[in-house]
Amino acid sequence: MSFRPPKGTDDIGAPASTRWRDVLRQWDTWADRFGYPLVMTPIFESTDLFERGVGEDTEVVTKQMYTFTDRGGRSLTLRPEGTAGVVRAFLDSGARGPWKGAYSGPMFRHERPQAGRRRQFWQLGVEYLDVDGPAADAEVIELGYRFLSAVDVPGLEVVINSLGDTVCRPGYVSTLRSYLEAKRDVLCDDSVSIIDVNPLRVLDCTVCAPVLTDAPAMKDHLCQPCAAHYGLVKKSLENLRIPFREDARLVRGLDYYTRTAFEYIATQLDAAQNAVGGGGRYDGLAESIGGRRAPGVGFALGVDRIVLASGEDVGPQVDVYLVSETGPEDALIAASVLRLAGLRVDFDSEGRKVEAQFKTAGRLGARAVVVQKGQGDEVDVRIDEEREQMALEAVPAWLGTRL
Ligand code: HAM
Repeated sequence: MSFRPPKGTDDIGAPASTRWRDVLRQWDTWADRFGYPLVMTPIFESTDLFERGVGEDTEVVTKQMYTFTDRGGRSLTLRPEGTAGVVRAFLDSGARGPWKGAYSGPMFRHERPQAGRRRQFWQLGVEYLDVDGPAADAEVIELGYRFLSAVDVPGLEVVINSLGDTVCRPGYVSTLRSYLEAKRDVLCDDSVSIIDVNPLRVLDCTVCAPVLTDAPAMKDHLCQPCAAHYGLVKKSLENLRIPFREDARLVRGLDYYTRTAFEYIATQLDAAQNAVGGGGRYDGLAESIGGRRAPGVGFALGVDRIVLASGEDVGPQVDVYLVSETGPEDALIAASVLRLAGLRVDFDSEGRKVEAQFKTAGRLGARAVVVQKGQGDEVDVRIDEEREQMALEAVPAWLGTRL
């Protein structure tokens, strides 16, 4: 067969998918714990929604969207991110907030593929809408931090900044633009080309970073309400004992952000794609897509990067592998008993030799092996160095204290 997945996309199967499933499961638990019900929006939306929501000058909109015309002549785009669609759905529903939604699904960006940068990738995210207060920002940041800690992302760092609002940002942007104009000669071509359209993004350029150490910082130009908001977000994070680092150069790649912006960094990953997640407040997004004022805050985490950061060790695919000396029909019944008791169990349905069955148990990383020796109820249970004979029905309780 000569077909391969399209460039920048992947087929994901075991063993890597074992880790994926674990991450997605834990996400459901944590989103639920913080009071975020599931929200599902279409994978494609009107192209306009992203142009107006994400921002016409952003790289995502100018270079990365998968846009097509459908048979009815409409311009549609595969969602490059989840926020614009969720805010649209919220406005469309007529709901009044505070309103929470959590999502999980594939997003699409035509990027140059590399490890952790894919053309189809999976985001987990939340949006909290119709909320103005800094406690909402802190709660959102906390959820991402607790979840990423629970799924063991190594070297996790929370980085935050404030991007101001429509009152204080324009003044800062023109100060920054003048500063960058004066540095034109030492900036890279890409940076020079965006000084006019989006000078904030120059701060994000890793090539130019060494010559921008004395750049003016947004946090020194915040208006009083933005400064107070930012101060309270930081205070709450301290109260929650969430370690964070401030970075005046954190600007984010999408245009809708106001005030709080943050990223979760996995310091072990390559710098170019070590953000396992990012988010912030977007008080003007709802209006920019034609709705009423609905301030909000949220984040999205990249599952591809979370899985990449956590390395090769995916853990066992099953709790028990059932090895049968008497054949697959007996094994099927015994496996069913253990499964109904809540254990993750697999067995060989093909009647292969006992040695081959043990090999499979090893390959799946089974924590315990249950050996069915005769037609009776007695089985041999092996876990680490321990070995016991018992009735099949007794196995779940016995393993329960050991797995
Ligand atoms: P973003 O920073 O563009 O924000 O993406 C969030 C995360 O998605 C990134 O930190 C990264 O982990 C993952 N990601 C992005 N692009 C790729 C890619 N090409 N391949 C693999 N992973 C990727 C947003 O999308 C905002 N909607 C977040 C948000 C929600 N802000 C407020 N609410």
